[in-house]
Amino acid sequence: MRVDVVTIFPEMIARALDFSMMARAREAGAAEFAVHNPRDFATDAHRMVDDAPYGGGAGMVMKPEPLAACIEATVSAEGAAVVLMTPQGEPFDQTRARRLAGLQQMVVVCGHYEGVDERVRETLVTDEISIGDYVLTGGELPALVLIDAVVRLLPGVLGNESSVHEDSFGDGLLEHPHYTRPAEFRGMRVPDVLVEGHHAQVRRWRRKMSLLRTLRRRPDLLARAALDDDDRELLAEILAQQVN
Ligand code: ADE
Repeated sequence: MRVDVVTIFPEMIARALDFSMMARAREAGAAEFAVHNPRDFATDAHRMVDDAPYGGGAGMVMKPEPLAACIEATVSAEGAAVVLMTPQGEPFDQTRARRLAGLQQMVVVCGHYEGVDERVRETLVTDEISIGDYVLTGGELPALVLIDAVVRLLPGVLGNESSVHEDSFGDGLLEHPHYTRPAEFRGMRVPDVLVEGHHAQVRRWRRKMSLLRTLRRRPDLLARAALDDDDRELLAEILAQQVN
């Protein structure tokens, strides 16, 4: 997948892409990254990328010409998504991450100031995404959140492919708890079922904990999850026992 980021703070994005999973994705040849600055497409003497809003009011608006030229110079693949990061966008979730991971190219546009000129949004943007109901000063951190969530789903990026499926939200539920050595830490023991390691029992325990955790923390997710008869049996057990 090709990932392009349109930002007036290119270093902020370029540095972050040099670490962890994103660096691994590039090394594995699963993703290719490029960063573009609309300022390089500004034609006036001061290379302005923002201007005062028509109609007055506080804040500045990203000017259409440099931003449009930058986006147009960047889109290359058929069916590429041009994603604008904005608090007015649709909420980001794992389903959307999976959909974007299937594309050949994703161009992520980082909004700034009060926003981008509406005509750019209307003509060049294909998706508008928010990472949550709070306002950040710019789209750079949201862009990095989005890119991380998408890139880790690309084939060959995670060492263990199955960990993608076992993630929280992979099946619409939160993940079960995890333990590693030692078997006892500050008087707290690892559950016997995990130490004993009978696969079927471990799988059942994990599923039950996953259901319990989702029931307690995110009943909204549980209501939407695709549950089978075994899950319903486990849930009945949970409700009967009120397991911790
Ligand atoms: N830009 C500023 N706040 C944002 C948010 N919550 N999500 C996406 N982009 C943003």
